[in-house]
Amino acid sequence: MSELFNLEGKVALITGGNSGIGKGIADGLAAAGSDIVIAARDIEKSHDVATSLEKKYQVNVMALTVDVSNEDDITDMPRKIRSRFEKIDIVVNNAGVNIRKMPEDFSSAEWDQVIDTNLKGTFLCCKTMYPDLSKTGGKVINIGSMTSVFGSAKTAAYSASKGAIVQLTRSLAVAWAKDNIQVNALLPGWIDTPLTVGSRQTFPTLNEHIEQRCPAGRWGIPEDFAGPATFLASKASDFITGESIFVDGGYSQSTLII
Ligand SMILES: NC(=O)c1ccc[n+]([C@@H]2O[C@H](COP(=O)([O-])OP(=O)(O)OC[C@H]3O[C@@H](n4cnc5c(N)ncnc54)[C@H](OP(=O)(O)O)[C@@H]3O)[C@@H](O)[C@H]2O)c1
Repeated sequence: MSELFNLEGKVALITGGNSGIGKGIADGLAAAGSDIVIAARDIEKSHDVATSLEKKYQVNVMALTVDVSNEDDITDMPRKIRSRFEKIDIVVNNAGVNIRKMPEDFSSAEWDQVIDTNLKGTFLCCKTMYPDLSKTGGKVINIGSMTSVFGSAKTAAYSASKGAIVQLTRSLAVAWAKDNIQVNALLPGWIDTPLTVGSRQTFPTLNEHIEQRCPAGRWGIPEDFAGPATFLASKASDFITGESIFVDGGYSQSTLII
């Protein structure tokens, strides 16, 4: 592996690393040599992913039960991580949820659930890990969405949270450049994961629409995130910060084909 992309000796925390995009990122960073901490609610799923990554790449993988919408869970992470690893070099804020309904039908509790998980969870995780990251310099990768830039009728809370991820990313990048911490975001397009299964079922024409509009002619898969995440976690991106990169097969660059 080129020195530029080598992550041997690094420890990466990945929230929501037991499924979909987070699992694809965990696989990519482990392949580059990084030890991994998976933080999510379903500990059995996390243990399964941990065991399979350890076997596949001979790296150390820890699974933690964490609800990122619960501040106590987040602030307790450094203590738990210390039982296995001495430090954290890379933080991937990937855990996310969506509630689909028209804005006028959102309850206050539903709004809070989405914002607390996607946005506040990301902020608190960054803040909690800052002392570690600032010791020797570090990398933060936040996960946004197409809805970071586009509106969508049934995802007001989700879009608000993901739009804010782009601005949070910029602000942390500016604040923590002095500590040699680079903070960037990946904005996924339509990716085939458990999160989008429901949309495919609810909208039978969605598949056709995506294959037509996306210049790559297909849905993304979790493996599409291994490369971009490894780049943003590695020395190769040391002079890039505050940036948001679409990982969408060109979907955001294209209009409907007519
Ligand atoms: N799939 C897409 O097309 C798409 C597009 C744009 C953006 N994204 C973003 O990509 C990220 C990953 O989504 P995905 O598509 O891979 O969905 P997914 O397969 O449903 O994965 C979501 C992950 O987040 C974790 N999670 C959810 N709520 C959590 C909480 N409160 N605390 C800790 N972990 C939590 C889940 O683990 P547990 O259930 O075990 O907690 C799971 O590992 C999300 O931020 C999502 O918004 C996805």
